[in-house]
Amino acid sequence: MKGNNVRKGRLVVLISGKGTNLRAIQQACAQGAITADIVAVISNHPDAAGLIWAANAGIPTQALDHTQFADRRTFDAALSRQIDAYAPDFVILAGFMRILTPVFVRHYQGRLLNIHPSLLPNFQGLHTHRRALQAKAEQHGASVHYVTPELDGGPVIMQAVVPVLAEDTEDRLAARVLTEEHKIYPLVIRWATEGRLSLNDQQQIRLDNHVLAKPLIYQHTH
Ligand code: GAR
Repeated sequence: MKGNNVRKGRLVVLISGKGTNLRAIQQACAQGAITADIVAVISNHPDAAGLIWAANAGIPTQALDHTQFADRRTFDAALSRQIDAYAPDFVILAGFMRILTPVFVRHYQGRLLNIHPSLLPNFQGLHTHRRALQAKAEQHGASVHYVTPELDGGPVIMQAVVPVLAEDTEDRLAARVLTEEHKIYPLVIRWATEGRLSLNDQQQIRLDNHVLAKPLIYQHTH
């Protein structure tokens, strides 16, 4: 019976596009770095490349086309029903390009994680790499955060920082940031599924029973 009594966490991953973060998370699960299973991948785009990849990898998939819904509220309600059918411990937004209603967000408070391609609070919203270049930022990166009703405004758990280089284009910078995303998201999900990470009622992050005063910065020694 040795080792059999470790309960595996259940992750539902929401995507809209390529799903490279999804793949990084799945790889970490397969290698045992994250003690959890991705029990479903749900996309608002039925033809998302990540959805096809997940289906080929044998992960249950669902498509919920947001254009078929009258408004955000009804889409989010249907999405919640789909998610809850899988009884997840955590809902992982991995390139899910939808603004979520407060009702949806509150339903998963403390169990809803997102990765955003900037050093939050800088460059909330879209086109973060372009805006970092336009602003002549010296550093850019990605942030993993708890989702709260404020768009891209929830408490940040961990950030990965990359330098902005003189020869950077939007695509080159995006690729460098994405490589870091694939490191920090599985790491944070690992802590969450191990019960080491939580969000308290004051919206403070606790890691190993210490309140995080500021986001952790990914160190390449991890
Ligand atoms: C990632 O860069 C992620 O940070 C970003 O979308 C990309 C998805 O890539 N998310 C957002 O912009 C959320 N506001 P992927 O589908 O290859 O994981």
